[in-house]
Amino acid sequence: MQSIYPGSELPERQYSQPVNGNEQPTQTSQPQGAPQTTAVVSAPAGTTLLRVEQVVKEYHVGGGSVVTALRGVNLRAHDGEFIAIRGRSGAGKTTLLNIIAGLDNPTHGRVILFGRDLAKLNDAQRTALRRTELGFMFQAAHLLPTLTASENVGLLMRMANADPAERERRTQEALALVGLAERAHHRAPELSGGEQQRVAIARALVHAPRLVLADEPTGNLDSHTGLNILELMRTIAHRAGIGFIVTSHDPQTAQVADSLYDINDGVLTPAQA
Ligand SMILES: Nc1ncnc2c1ncn2[C@@H]1O[C@H](COP(=O)(O)OP(=O)(O)OP(=O)(O)O)[C@@H](O)[C@H]1O
Ligand SMILES: [Mg+2]
Repeated sequence: MQSIYPGSELPERQYSQPVNGNEQPTQTSQPQGAPQTTAVVSAPAGTTLLRVEQVVKEYHVGGGSVVTALRGVNLRAHDGEFIAIRGRSGAGKTTLLNIIAGLDNPTHGRVILFGRDLAKLNDAQRTALRRTELGFMFQAAHLLPTLTASENVGLLMRMANADPAERERRTQEALALVGLAERAHHRAPELSGGEQQRVAIARALVHAPRLVLADEPTGNLDSHTGLNILELMRTIAHRAGIGFIVTSHDPQTAQVADSLYDINDGVLTPAQA
C-alpha cells in the first residue's frame, strides 16, 4: 500500500493557487427562525471533504429554555487544508466538531461529509465513516498508561482486526512521522506532555483518515510546545493531503492556519487579517 506520510511520494500542496471558482457555498433555504450569518468560506483549491451548510444547533434544557449553540454555520474543508477555529469557552467549538463527526444532529441545516449527507446515514454507517475516514484529537492525549506508544497508536487497528503486519508498518510509520520512532516502546507516563500529544497525532493518523478533527489539541501544552504541535499538524496536512479542523483558544493558531475562523456565540466568521 502506498504511504500517505511526509517524505513519501506525495507532493507538498501549494496554497498559492486561486480559490476554485466552483467552490462557492451551495445555496440552501434558510430554516425558519434561524439567524442569518455572514460566514463565507474562502479556502484553497482541493477536493472538498466537508460542507457544513447553514447549521443551527439548539439544545432544549430544563424549564423549557433553549440554548442556541450554533447559528447558521457554513464551513468547507478541503484535502490538505489546515483550518483553525478560534473561540472562547462556550462559543460552540465542540458542538460544531460533534456535528461534523455525526455524533450529534443539527437542528437545521446539513453536513455533507465526503460527499455523503450525514442525515441520510444510519448509526452504523456513521460509525463506519468515523472509523475509516476521520481522525480525532482532544485536549488531553488520553493514552492508555499501561500501553506503549506503539500499542496506543495501533490499538484501534488491533480492535478492528487489521492485519498485524500492516498494523505494525503503519504504526511505525505514524510514529516516525511525528518524530517519535525512538520512543515507540515508552509507556505514556514515560513521555512528556508534548510527546504524548504527538503520539495522539500518530494515533489519529494511523488508519489514514481523510480529515482530522482536533478539539483544542494544544490546550494542555506550553506555548512553545503547542506551536510545534500545530506546525507538525500543518506539515502533515500539506504533505499527506489530509484535512485538519483544529479548534483553539490559542492565539498562535493564527500563525499556522491556512484558513482561520472565529466563532463567537455560535456564529462562525472568517477571521479578519
Ligand atoms: N448537551 C448540551 N445541552 C445543553 N447545552 C449545551 C450542551 N452542550 C453544549 N451546550 C451549550 O452550548 C454552548 C456551546 O458549547 P460548546 O461545548 O460547543 O462550547 P466550546 O466552544 O467547545 O467551549 P469550551 O472551549 O469550553 O470547550 C454552550 O453555551 C454550552 O453550554
Ligand atoms: Mg469545547
